[in-house]
Amino acid sequence: MKILGIESSCDETAAGIVENGNHLLSNVVATSMDLHAKYGGVVPEIAARSHIESIIPVIEQSLSDANVVWRDIDGIAVTNGAGLGGSLLVGVLTARTLSIVKQKPLYAINHVEGHIYANFITSTTLSGYRLPSSQPEFPLLGLIVSGGHSQLVLWNNHFDYLLLGRTHDDAIGEAFDKIAKMLGLPYPGGPSIAELAIHGDAYAYNFPKANLGATYDFSFSGPKTAVLRAAQLQLGMDYNFPSYKLADKLTMDQKASIAASFQRIAVETVVDKTILAFNEFSPSSVVIGGGVASSPEIRRQLAARLAIPINYTDHKLCTDNGAMIAALGCFKALLKQPVIDPYSLDIMPNLSM
Ligand code: KG4
Ligand code: ZN
Repeated sequence: MKILGIESSCDETAAGIVENGNHLLSNVVATSMDLHAKYGGVVPEIAARSHIESIIPVIEQSLSDANVVWRDIDGIAVTNGAGLGGSLLVGVLTARTLSIVKQKPLYAINHVEGHIYANFITSTTLSGYRLPSSQPEFPLLGLIVSGGHSQLVLWNNHFDYLLLGRTHDDAIGEAFDKIAKMLGLPYPGGPSIAELAIHGDAYAYNFPKANLGATYDFSFSGPKTAVLRAAQLQLGMDYNFPSYKLADKLTMDQKASIAASFQRIAVETVVDKTILAFNEFSPSSVVIGGGVASSPEIRRQLAARLAIPINYTDHKLCTDNGAMIAALGCFKALLKQPVIDPYSLDIMPNLSM
């Protein structure tokens, strides 16, 4: 069972081919990240135009890397939500067209669910991948931490899941990106903050954590404002001082300690709730998906506090990619999930779990 996965929900145009839900044959990603860097975040119009230019070459490359032809492909899986409308449209319309022309069954994939299925990939013929040695077991507690999503989900089995909690405002990666922009650090903010945080004191600032009581929900807007206020105060300015002028005035030491302190509490926020859910539901495995899964701080805190080890996948499969979409598509095909009508599949920018 070989499935082609197509992903275009944000700024990565991606296609990957996975066999039987565990074996990676190809994973091709073209990112428009450089085009967004000077704006400090993804510009939807630019992302959509870039997808149009890249999508066909990326799909062709994924077939050629996998050493397969269309005849070998058993189905097409495509992200139809959640994501940016213009970006999703490019992937979905391409997949619909290919499904009709090449006569392949079509599967619609929830992007957030896809992030978790990156962890089901355990072997590959491609070089440069560090993969988990075995697939996660159900019940499975999944934490999705990316630029667009922060969610805690409990899977009892494939396609049988319960959304435990989600962010009320920013996603954790988005909060990193915004704090990085305020500190004058390059986009994407997660890795920039992680790098600078090494030189800072993670306890220099006591930013508040949003607790949200006994729920599994997250919030990052309060701590984000607390960072702004602390930076203004540090410079002897009041709350009217514009955030875009802070980066020039803060010293490197101050920035490093702000980065380290914010990173600590942002990661604690999601780790606290993961531990809470782990203790409540006693899952057999805990799986992390999304770009922030590569954060050394999240790995450190989880290793210190979680009772079971986590098998992380390769960084290239944590950030947005087509292979994770293909992996979930394989399970949909293998477990006889309904095939989607290629003439009517629509995008769902606000799709939730
Ligand atoms: O999963 P992803 O590629 O895209 C979305 O679905 O959003 O995640 C991108 C996010 C960005 O916010 C970026 O700052 C963050 O993941 N990120 C990281 C790291 N690599 C990417 N955050 C912390 N540490 C990293 N190494
Ligand atoms: Zn993502």
